[in-house]
Formats: sequence, C-alpha cells, structure tokens
Amino acid sequence: MSTNTLVGEYFANGTLAGLPKGHFIDGAFVAASGGRTMETFDPGSARAYHAFAAGDGSDVDRAVAAARRAQRAWGRTKASARGAILLRAAELIRAEAARLAVVESLDSGKALQEAEGDVSGAARCFEYYAGAADKIQGDTFPLGTDYIGYSIEEPVGVTGHIIPWNYPLSTAARSIAPALAAGCTVVAKPAEQTPLTALMLADILSRAGLPAGVCNVVTGTGAEAGGPLVSHPDVRHVTFTGSVPTGIRVMQSAAANVTSVVLELGGKSPVIVMADADMDAAVEGVLGAIYENAGQICSAGSRLVVERGVHAELVERLARRATGLKLGHGLRRPQVGALSSLAHLDKVAGYVEGARDRGVTIAAGGERTTDPESGSGWFFKPTILDAVQSDDPVIQEEIFGPVLSVQVVESEEEAVAVANGTDFGLVAGIYTRDFGRAHRMARDIDAGQVYINEYFAGGIEVPFGGNKLSGFGREKGFAALRSYTRTKSLTAKIS
Ligand code: NAI
Ligand code: MG
Repeated sequence: MSTNTLVGEYFANGTLAGLPKGHFIDGAFVAASGGRTMETFDPGSARAYHAFAAGDGSDVDRAVAAARRAQRAWGRTKASARGAILLRAAELIRAEAARLAVVESLDSGKALQEAEGDVSGAARCFEYYAGAADKIQGDTFPLGTDYIGYSIEEPVGVTGHIIPWNYPLSTAARSIAPALAAGCTVVAKPAEQTPLTALMLADILSRAGLPAGVCNVVTGTGAEAGGPLVSHPDVRHVTFTGSVPTGIRVMQSAAANVTSVVLELGGKSPVIVMADADMDAAVEGVLGAIYENAGQICSAGSRLVVERGVHAELVERLARRATGLKLGHGLRRPQVGALSSLAHLDKVAGYVEGARDRGVTIAAGGERTTDPESGSGWFFKPTILDAVQSDDPVIQEEIFGPVLSVQVVESEEEAVAVANGTDFGLVAGIYTRDFGRAHRMARDIDAGQVYINEYFAGGIEVPFGGNKLSGFGREKGFAALRSYTRTKSLTAKIS
C-alpha cells in the first residue's frame, strides 16, 4: 500500500487496520498472559488510536524461555546463513518501508520524512550486520612450536534490549541486528509510547526466515515489563537506551546476575562555532542538531558554544530560521513534529518557564503550540535561550526537546572548557576552518564522538556511545559486536 493511501486511511478512520496487538513470542503474536492492554497515542493529535498488550513478568518469562530454547541452534547456525537472513530482513524492511514509516511517524509524532529516513537507516543497519556476521573471527597466540593457541568468539546467549520512544525502529534495529549477527537470541521491550514498529520488525525477521524464539518482543511499561527483563537471570547481556536514572536502575538489576550492560544515556552535547567557521554551514548544522526529531535525540546539539565575535550574527540568523520552521502533525510532513507525550511536553515547557523566571533571554519560541490544521497535539515551538550562565539547569540538564541554549566564549581554550562543563559526554560538534584547531579541540573534548563541520556526519559504520553520565559501551560499527560475543581461548600441547 502506498504512503498516501495509508495516510488517507488514518485521517479518515482515526487508526490503521492490521496494527500488531500482541507480544511477539516464539514466532507468533500472542496476547498478554494477564489479558491486559494499554493504549498508544498519536502525539500529533493527542488521541489514543490503538491498544496493545500490557505485559508483565510472566510474559517476559515466556519470551526468555523461548529465546533460551532457540539459543543453541541459532548460535550454531553457520554465520553466513545468519547473515543471509539479516539481508533478507533488510530487503523486507525496504519493501515495507511505506507502512513502517507511517506507523513510526504516527506512534512517535515525528515528521513522516524523518520516519522514512529512520526506516531506511534500519534497513541499512541489517545490511551492515548481515555482512559482518561471517567476519566475526578469533585470534591465534604465539605459544611456541609445541603448542597451539587460538580463540573463538561465542555468542553471549539471550540478550535483553530496552528501546526508547524517540527512535523506536532504528534503536531496535541497531541493537537487534548485531546481536543476531553474533548468534545471540533477543528479547526486546519497546517503550510504552511507541510499541508498534518493534513488533513489526520481529514479524519481518520471522518472515525473513529467522527461527521461532530467536527474536521476541514484549510490550508494556518499564516497571512491569522492562524490570523483569533486565533482572532475569537467564538474560546474559542488556542493551539499554534511555534516561540516566533508569539506566542506573537497569545496571543495578543486571548486577545481581552479573549480566553485562551497555548504557546509552542522555547528553547535553555542545556545538562549538568558532569565529572563523563557514557561517552558512554552521547555521544549517545547528538547526539540524537541535530541531531534528523536535530535539528528542540523545545526541542532539542542545548547547551552542559560540565565539563572541560571531555570537550576535549567528543567534539572529538562527532565531529567524527557528521562528520560520513549520510545525504540524507528523503525517503532514512538517519541518518539526510533535513531542512524544503530554508528560514530556510538560517537562520541556517547565525547563523553559524556569529559564524565563530566572531572566534568561528567549531569542525564539518559548511556548507550547498545536497542530495548525487541527488545533490539537503536543507541540513546543523551536526555542533559543541566549547567553545562558554555565550553572543554569538548561545548560546542565537534558531537556530532550527543541530548546537550544547558547553559551558565549572568548577563545578556543574556553570553548573546550565550556564544552566539557557538564556531567555528560556523548557527542560534540566543531565548526571551524582551521584544521589544526579542529583536531586539537577534538582531542581535548570528552565525548564518544566528535563531528567536524557537519553535525551528525557518519552512519552505521561509526561506533556510537558516551562517556561520563552518557553511559558506556559502543553501538554501531564493529565495536557493537563486542557486546554480543565473549572470547573463548583454547590452548593445546601438540608435541
Ligand atoms: P526511561 O529511561 O524511563 O525509558 C526508556 C525505556 O526504559 C522505555 O522502554 C521504558 O519503558 C524503559 N524502562 C523504564 N523503567 C524501566 C525499568 N525499571 N527497567 C527496565 N526498563 C525500564 O525514559 P523516559 O521516562 O521515557 O524519558 C525520560 C527522559 O529520559 C527524557 O526526557 C529524556 O531526557 C531521556 N531519554 C533519553 C533517551 C536517549 O536516547 N538517550 C531516550 C528516551 C528518553
Ligand atoms: Mg504512540
């Protein structure tokens, strides 16, 4: 079905036919053991449009048991055969991209063209790890001529995946694909705000030939379904993306079973613009860094760190552009979509109200709004808070919305110090024409990834993850595979 047909169906009926309702366990959709459901909302209209399974510990037990049963055969499946299934899944994601993108946009509130980009990114992720599956190799050790020594990379076993609501499909893909490539089985728990595309992905994987039980999805709240998953003794690794407090709780739960974790937590990432930068590139870069996905990105560039000489000009240009951005229901392809939930909109608005009360200059936006066509939905205007003090909460805390906080600096040294001046260390952007300066600053910035002259440059090939409170471990690239394998060393005396 074409995108336009699906969008038309939604606006005519207030829902879509054929959306998944149950958990996906052991190769089939099943109802929650307790029979309970909960509703998912369309943030662009603030209306519930579909009910899905509200899972609990017994559903998690069923899913983990299915994954455990499937683990041995999947782990021993020839790596190239695992890769072939992942490649087939990538083809199906591309073939079914229209439906996936419409559902992703509807469930999360994001603009449809961004959801389309996420879907093609998810397909690309499966292609990448399809190709990686048969390149996971061990090593040999120089023990002398009387011995042989070598290692093999084994799958860790059943893995748990806790998925957030900002990039529901692409975050699911980026941890599920390497886990499957490495020979692990999967139990994923999508966010309760956006449960649908992870379920659709599990169904696609099944149709691509993945054996029953290898990839399971249990839906429900963090407390009722996520908690039992991350504390399950048969889960050998957990990949978590979300907030710092929940990440800490997940790590504590996993610790009880000595289960490894990768934590992708928040950020307060700086975009540094030096006076010698290409200002046109900087304007585009800063706008994308903070207003893409309405700022609901862990790696959003939420702080502009700008050299004084270009501060006034840059903020004026950004404010003009930010004010002109068109907001609206995601399926109408706006430049900025809705925020994911009313609670989240309240949180974002609360940060901006606090800044206003403290006398911070609001150079653009600063208030809630609605979809101009329907007058409903959870929207916040693209906002710029200018010349903010370093200790202000809007500098130190993750807002996770379309709110840029500006810090003015006098030098390269101060720019680096200010960039490093939060508890987070996820990514950073640098705009300068001076090659040596760009690399000096990149060396001195405490972050998992530094973008030079193009914010968000990169792709699935590039390892991604944070330092400090932004977490640890890396996803994407070959680095991600390390979470899903464990090394077994073998040594033998041969003469
Ligand atoms: P959260 O961290 O509580 O939720 C993320 C995921 O964790 C969801 O799937 C949720 O159901 C699950 N979860 C919650 N409690 C759990 C538990 N005890 N055990 C296992 N799983 C659990 O984040 P929330 O409340 O949705 O958003 C709060 C803030 O977190 C946002 O305002 C934003 O600042 C940040 N956040 C950061 C994300 C990132 O990409 N790093 C993604 C989502 C939120
Ligand atoms: Mg939703």
